[in-house]
Amino acid sequence: MTTQRLPMQGQRILLGISGGIAAYKTVDLARKLVQEGAQVRCVLTESATHFVSATALQAVTGVAVRHSLWDEGAEAAMSHIELARWADTLLIAPATANTLAKLAQGIADDLLTTLALATRANLVLAPAMNGDMWRHPATQANLALLQQRGARVLDPDSGCLACGEVDVGRMQEPQVIVDRLSGSRSEQMLVGKRVLITAGPTVEDIDPVRFIANRSSGKMGYAFAQAARDLGADVVLVSGPTALPDPVGVTTIRVRSALQMFEAVQTHFVGIDFMIAAAAVADYRVEQVASSKLKKQGDGVLTLTLMQNPDIVAWAAAQPNRGKVIAFAAETENLIAHAQEKLQRKGVDAVLANSVADGAAFDQAQNQLFLISADGVHEFPLTHKSQLAQQVLAHLASTYFNCGCLR
Ligand code: PMT
Repeated sequence: MTTQRLPMQGQRILLGISGGIAAYKTVDLARKLVQEGAQVRCVLTESATHFVSATALQAVTGVAVRHSLWDEGAEAAMSHIELARWADTLLIAPATANTLAKLAQGIADDLLTTLALATRANLVLAPAMNGDMWRHPATQANLALLQQRGARVLDPDSGCLACGEVDVGRMQEPQVIVDRLSGSRSEQMLVGKRVLITAGPTVEDIDPVRFIANRSSGKMGYAFAQAARDLGADVVLVSGPTALPDPVGVTTIRVRSALQMFEAVQTHFVGIDFMIAAAAVADYRVEQVASSKLKKQGDGVLTLTLMQNPDIVAWAAAQPNRGKVIAFAAETENLIAHAQEKLQRKGVDAVLANSVADGAAFDQAQNQLFLISADGVHEFPLTHKSQLAQQVLAHLASTYFNCGCLR
């Protein structure tokens, strides 16, 4: 009888849990890692003990949970240095802003941070915190430093946070973390590939105080940039104005208008393996941007003359010897038919179609996509944008670069 090898068989994961509300999800995370074949040992910070039960973690991993440097019995069984050496991967989930700051500074004032200093294991961080704490320059600088030292950061998701705000800062779902760690899915299938992504809205000025824009938050495009980076690609993100921080490890170019986005894409297009155009580019700009604030007109009517902007993705698709070019299509009706028409008209290799009817897609944490190409239509069901981007990229890598990966 042959037994099937599980994807994480033989992997030794030290799951460090710091004190955020997302800690309650770590029982499920530990259980899923064990189900994938990993050996899992858990370490809690003092604050984490307020959010998750050591008994529950012990029940799913089969191993006593540690939370103190001063537990003589546990130290006698396996010292903290032995525990640090035991692990292949130190996964810290959730990683709070405080823990990230301590890791960046090399502070070792509890068991988890001491293990982080002593271990030679890969460090994987799944941050979770309030959106303002995540965007704070101190947190972003700490993350950048940790990444420079080789840590892998699973950027938090957007959605409803424990503080009641809808923002970026949710810890990635346990299944997403497991997928990223699992051998079958964490294949660096885009290593050596150069990916150009556009994201967010473009803003077309009318005068110094007014503009024409749209509802794009940038979440979809940024999710693609982060997913491509996690799969090993060299990523350039050209972004219109958004409230999102620059993704760590991605070259991010901030622009405002469609013309600026066009210029940035032209500058970075040569040599890319593929482009994903998730930006909601304004089709028109104001012909004459007023240099001073427009005054109310006496007759109650203001007429603006709009000029068509260049079609950036169509330009990309028309370049010789180019990489693959994937456009988006945002439609309120006849989704597939309109997307098929865009596939032809823009001359791109594929179109990712999403419905934007009834408040869908724009600024949402989740989305549903249909990949439309000469091969037909492939549906990616509604899920978090980060997971969706990962699934789509795995599919594209498999289709265009023949990588043995998820379909
Ligand atoms: O940013 P989020 O809040 O997460 O929302 C995601 C999204 C809804 C913006 C995203 O999923 C999406 O659909 N992006 C494309 C929006 C859009 O402008 O679609 P379109 O059907 O109007 O344009 C078709 C394609 O042509 C797009 O790839 C667009 O980037 C591109 N285009 C459009 C006009 C133009 N002048 N140049 C272009 O390159």
